[in-house]
Amino acid sequence: MKNVSRSPINLLGRKVSHLIPAFDDVPGIISMGERDTLIWQLAQPYLRTRDNDAHTLYSYGIARQLLRRLPEAHEHIVLPAIILHDTGWSTVDESDAIQAIAPDRDGSYSWAVFQHEKEGARIAREILTEAGIPATDIDEICEIIDGHDTRLTALSLNDKLVKDSDKVWRVSPHGIDVAMPRFGLDREESVRINGYRAYDDLFTDEAKSMSLALMAVECMDLSPQMYKLRSIGRLNG
Ligand SMILES: [Fe+2]
Ligand SMILES: [Fe+2]
Repeated sequence: MKNVSRSPINLLGRKVSHLIPAFDDVPGIISMGERDTLIWQLAQPYLRTRDNDAHTLYSYGIARQLLRRLPEAHEHIVLPAIILHDTGWSTVDESDAIQAIAPDRDGSYSWAVFQHEKEGARIAREILTEAGIPATDIDEICEIIDGHDTRLTALSLNDKLVKDSDKVWRVSPHGIDVAMPRFGLDREESVRINGYRAYDDLFTDEAKSMSLALMAVECMDLSPQMYKLRSIGRLNG
């Protein structure tokens, strides 16, 4: 986690650094473990198209938090699946991919969505085999990846978590950011279009709560009241 240096003395002239809890004591602080770092490193060359690498990292973080609230799901399935789910976009031409996911798509590029799922499952199988993941786990992970966008029902709780982590990302700051230039939207339009697609489609109540929390921050950021604070220099940015 990035560390920014600053004075250890607060406004009251006192030091509080001894009160800061250890990483492991804070609910929700996460970083990638050894297994996932290896899978991520092997997946990265396939995630360079569009913003798939950053999308994957944010979706991974969301999946980690959902697993905390839904511990009956299997992290050794969900986490490799979310890291690898979009590797198949590397086999689809960039402009075809944009056509396939555009808000005004007419279905004529659906083949590209199916291709990224099928090829993603194939690439995932190669990477997971290289990473030494057990064969039965590989089968389940690949089954989740193949259909993660087009299959409207979930195969299992593990599948639900992968689908929800992927979709909650849409209302993250990064998800809102990337939709703007991609589809010619301003920020408020991007919040509306992404927010519409990141609630009703979610499978778990936990993901719905996360989506609403992210929407709360985005909407207050865009509010006239926050705009006013920004314009009089009460906020940075
Ligand atoms: Fe996808
Ligand atoms: Fe995705």
